Amino acid sequence: MDFPENFLWGTATAAYQVEGAVNEGGRGASIWDTFSHTPGKVRHGDTGDIACDQYHRLEEDLDLMSELGILAYRFSVAWPRIQPEGSGSANQNGLDFYRRLVDGLRQRSIEPMLTLYHWDLPQALEDVGGWTNRDTSERFAEYAAIVHEALSDSVGFWITLNEPWVSAWMGYGLGVHAPGHQDSARALAATHHLLLSHGLAMERMRSAGDANQLGVTLNLHPARPSRDREADREAARRVDGQANRLYLDPLFHGDYPEDVFSYYGERGVDLTFVQDRDLDRISVPIDFLGINYYFRNTVRDAPEEQGQSIPFADLGARSVIPHEAEKTAMGWPVEPDGLTEILVRIKEDYEDLPMYVTENGRAVHDYIDPEGDVDDEERVSYLDAHFRAAHQAIAQGVDLRGYMVWSFLDNFEWAEGYSKRFGIVFVEYGAQRRVPKSSARWYSDVIRRNGLE
Ligand code: FCB
Repeated sequence: MDFPENFLWGTATAAYQVEGAVNEGGRGASIWDTFSHTPGKVRHGDTGDIACDQYHRLEEDLDLMSELGILAYRFSVAWPRIQPEGSGSANQNGLDFYRRLVDGLRQRSIEPMLTLYHWDLPQALEDVGGWTNRDTSERFAEYAAIVHEALSDSVGFWITLNEPWVSAWMGYGLGVHAPGHQDSARALAATHHLLLSHGLAMERMRSAGDANQLGVTLNLHPARPSRDREADREAARRVDGQANRLYLDPLFHGDYPEDVFSYYGERGVDLTFVQDRDLDRISVPIDFLGINYYFRNTVRDAPEEQGQSIPFADLGARSVIPHEAEKTAMGWPVEPDGLTEILVRIKEDYEDLPMYVTENGRAVHDYIDPEGDVDDEERVSYLDAHFRAAHQAIAQGVDLRGYMVWSFLDNFEWAEGYSKRFGIVFVEYGAQRRVPKSSARWYSDVIRRNGLE
């Protein structure tokens, strides 16, 4: 099973999850520093203070990537390293760190794929409303322009936002992520300002006139009814509206989904945050779409759950785990065919544009065995099945150009702290020893062959 020529096989991480060194190089505080240091928010009270210490172990990590034959590295820039207070002039020390990272990748012929925002909003901006404040979109565009100017000569792939649904709904709607608010109205305003920030940043970067590829990454989950009932079909449509169409429609069609807006409008949510021309700016053409795929939403109508702090409770819906599904250490169902489905849907319902899987992978209860190995068979079979699902989409005409496995290293898994391991490389925290798992060796072979047997 061969993949297209020049298929970009890579791995991904995000700044707060791997860097550590939160008080070094002039870095300011982010909402994740505040949140993780708030008792009760993250499992075991874990924080990203040290994480994988990649800030100090850059060379070692880059060498390991190179040994494994990885062709691309998707990483994110920590906004508070560049603008410690979220605005104003650039902190040169912060830019220097990413210059070292990018040059180190280039020297090893690894393609850098840079994400500008992977959830670490400067705390100073949250103090004045964060993503519920329209001004944050302007601040983001300014930040994007600074990073772009500093690194556009060496970075070919630019992703404005990682998973705006998660930033908005987990952060401002459910409160299980930073900054921890529980209010659907705020989540909707945050959604709009995130999308607007993407559009404004695109404008700024595009005006530089280089040949770099600019895009955005969405977490997309196909939604289907859990039972053959009208109520479940309607619930699945509501979930699809909030999780997928609320992002895809404005980006590709320049419009918000009518059903989602009227649902919240009827419940008294003030939707006046959308101003003239915003949608034109949000729907500015992108060169590629990044897709993070983990699982489907299998949806049941659940009016009794209104008001609870679980995803989609405000829609009177619940995403359930199908009985037959294998579950990962996160409790997420393994559903590779959902990946084919979502890729094909983008091409058919939205646009036939280049796409990259910018994240996919699974958590396993990994451990170092007495021989010193980490044998993560479950991850190998998960990735194998998802690569096949991606190949299936390519066979159906999808212009898929690359695949970034989440993650290169075990890391700080947000509200789950270090309890969940997603890496193809095991991290022994404390000693900070890296041990490539069986999946890393297997992935090296896939990359070398550019395909599966
Ligand atoms: C995604 C995030 C990523 C990681 C994976 C497991 O939602 O983008 O940082 O936590 O989930």
